[in-house]
Amino acid sequence: MQDFAYLKPKDIYMDTACQSLRPQPVIDALNDYYTEFNSCGERVKYQWGRTTDQKVSATRQKVLKYLKLSSREYFVSFTLNTTYGINLILQQLKSGAVKTVITSDIEHNSPFLATMSFAKKQQIPRQIISRDPDGSVDVSQIPERALVVLNCASNIDGRRLENIKEVIKATHKKGGLIIIDAAQAMAHQVEILQKTSPDAICFSAHKMYGPSLGVIVARKDFIKHLEPSFVGGGMVDDVEKDRYYLSADNQDHLFTIFEPGLQAWGEIIALGASIDWLNSLPKTVKKNLDIQTRHLYDFLADHPKIKLINQAPTPVLSFYVDGLDSHLLGQALADQGIMARTGYFCVHYYLDHIMHYPPLIRLSLGYHTRSEDIGQVIQALSKI
Ligand SMILES: Cc1ncc(COP(=O)(O)O)c(C=O)c1O
Repeated sequence: MQDFAYLKPKDIYMDTACQSLRPQPVIDALNDYYTEFNSCGERVKYQWGRTTDQKVSATRQKVLKYLKLSSREYFVSFTLNTTYGINLILQQLKSGAVKTVITSDIEHNSPFLATMSFAKKQQIPRQIISRDPDGSVDVSQIPERALVVLNCASNIDGRRLENIKEVIKATHKKGGLIIIDAAQAMAHQVEILQKTSPDAICFSAHKMYGPSLGVIVARKDFIKHLEPSFVGGGMVDDVEKDRYYLSADNQDHLFTIFEPGLQAWGEIIALGASIDWLNSLPKTVKKNLDIQTRHLYDFLADHPKIKLINQAPTPVLSFYVDGLDSHLLGQALADQGIMARTGYFCVHYYLDHIMHYPPLIRLSLGYHTRSEDIGQVIQALSKI
């Protein structure tokens, strides 16, 4: 694809689930910020700053539009990454806001560890529920007044929280709160999140063809549950000797609650460019990803020595080979220019302690993936 023209034929990048490659328009947007109007947002009056403000504000709107959520109900804040966003919320949730914290067995360490630390700090029970093979959750497992933290797409095999709307409804009906880890959904599966109503959604721009950046999308009425403790410049209207007045008390500045200090203005603007890029992708590009995914999935599923974890084809495919160390296999692939991941992909509890799998190998595809890449991967795996 032209927007990845910089990718050399010998480089076969199969680690999109970690970080997607950045298309040229996103790189250009970041470069433009640095070379054309490098300035601080939300503070300065000169023209460069006004350009930054206008583009940052447009990105907030683009995020909501991409998720089909209303700016009457939700606001958008920027942070470092998914992990930071989830921790920022959990560390500031008022004591007594919930009675239990719930997460699932297939979570990334990002919510898995953050919920552990939250339960300890708030001295409340933490419960790990299991997900059905298709990724959905039996809602009868959700107790009263729980904080539920779940991914809506897994970084092991792309399985999704198929009944996300039912889970959100059940959590709210029982007086609880729900945060969705959308790190793996934003690039290729955003439709699962669209028009849903969780209390917050956390994701990473670097997994959706954007720059290195985190995003929190939160319901406006959710902030009443927060006790801001991570505070500083850019989030106050006035400060006295022992007291400050939060800008987030103003409905138009709710986003400041999660944005202490100077922000990554260029990256925020480049995220806007990545959303434009995703929205403008022709159907043929999406179709190509489906075709390449299916081709690789069929090979992995049919090979007698390969144990594929996936139940269905998704752009994230994990497996192991009987009698062959995945780290060695990863090294052998790397020697041929194939960039794959090996190990437990930050899902140690499920993969190692529940499923007792050996370390795995993960191949994750993206819109940059060429049919020749898949051909080479299949050839290399067959040979090894
Ligand atoms: C499902 C899921 N959640 C959370 C994360 C953490 O993302 P980050 O490292 O950008 O914070 C990842 C990263 O791979 C992920 O796949």
